[in-house]
Amino acid sequence: MTGTRVLLTGAAGFIGSHIHTTLSAAGHDVVAVDALLPSAHGADAQAPEGIQRADVRDLPTLTELLRGVDVVCHQSAVVGAGVNASDAPAYASHNDVGTATLLAAMHETGCRRLVLASSMVVYGDGRYRNAVGEIVEPAARRSDDLAAGIFDTTDPTTGETLDWELVEEDSPLRPRSLYAASKVAQENYAHAWSLATGGCVTALRYHNVYGDHMPRNTPYSGVAAMFRSFLEAGEPPRVFEDGLQMRDFVHVRDVASANMAAIDAPIPGFSAFNVCSGQPITIGEVAVTLARAYGGPAPVVTGEYRPGDVRHIVASPRLAGEKLGFRAQILPEAGIAAFAHAPLRSAAPAGPPRV
Ligand SMILES: NC(=O)c1ccc[n+]([C@@H]2O[C@H](COP(=O)([O-])OP(=O)(O)OC[C@H]3O[C@@H](n4cnc5c(N)ncnc54)[C@H](O)[C@@H]3O)[C@@H](O)[C@H]2O)c1
Repeated sequence: MTGTRVLLTGAAGFIGSHIHTTLSAAGHDVVAVDALLPSAHGADAQAPEGIQRADVRDLPTLTELLRGVDVVCHQSAVVGAGVNASDAPAYASHNDVGTATLLAAMHETGCRRLVLASSMVVYGDGRYRNAVGEIVEPAARRSDDLAAGIFDTTDPTTGETLDWELVEEDSPLRPRSLYAASKVAQENYAHAWSLATGGCVTALRYHNVYGDHMPRNTPYSGVAAMFRSFLEAGEPPRVFEDGLQMRDFVHVRDVASANMAAIDAPIPGFSAFNVCSGQPITIGEVAVTLARAYGGPAPVVTGEYRPGDVRHIVASPRLAGEKLGFRAQILPEAGIAAFAHAPLRSAAPAGPPRV
């Protein structure tokens, strides 16, 4: 389907810029906007060519930009795990007030289709099964165990170690960070808007996204960029826990394709899909693959841990395949090796996110 007019928010960001390229190449008419937050783009960033500076919390501007728009592809957000509770107002303001304002502007202009960038963080912990194959809610990991190097999740009744299982979209949403809370709130606002207006919402729950122009190492960036930064400094990537944490790494160009598939395939009501490669990989394997491809020192498994981290989170790509026709084309082994030499975002972030 070509010629759809799309309002793309967060168009100057890591994922938004790839979506912009993909949609434009497919012949869609893209209205690309971004507030160019200093925390993502540095102080005094100028809008790149083809992108208008606009803040999604600015209702009159959005209402103007939405004239004639068929679909909104909403990528703008303050991202990452964050540092501490001081970041809460920035997540709430840009992510939740921003989404609520956007939905109000869509209501006012009669735009009835939203594709929303969501995240695996909405699930909180992953899904686990015991030795006889029953799905079990794991016990919270205890700080004493983590300090003693016991990282696996266990059955709260029997104490046995649990195995990971693929997370399906109907899994409970249990946010464990401020950022995750703001992503769940975005989905909730969008779901309620869809019920009230009859509009269509497709929420895409991205897993670990990596690829060209990923932001450099900051408390807000992903683990692949952190490993790259160690290698660039001539140091071994430092792998937390025992390196056996299981994740799904999905390439940013595949994420852009998933957005195009969602734009091209309206689904009535609210629906949510995992956007993942379907090829789980351990954090340790990611570090080894990157270090080898970069030609740097082998990773060090440090046994360090972050109390908020989940042990495993791995998703099922089945539903996105069935309903959107989306299948990742770049599999982690090749994609992560190529990422060893990919260009990263050049801007140095100017401090933590601000309201
Ligand atoms: N990168 C990942 O691994 C990942 C994983 C899951 C979900 N996501 C989601 O994908 C989306 C894009 O993330 P990204 O990694 O490209 O981050 P990014 O920081 O590179 O891009 C986000 C963009 O949003 C803009 N922005 C923030 N607040 C704004 C506002 N109020 N008005 C207008 N623009 C604003 C920023 O200036 C930035 O350019 C986000 O919604 C994020 O939550 C990302």
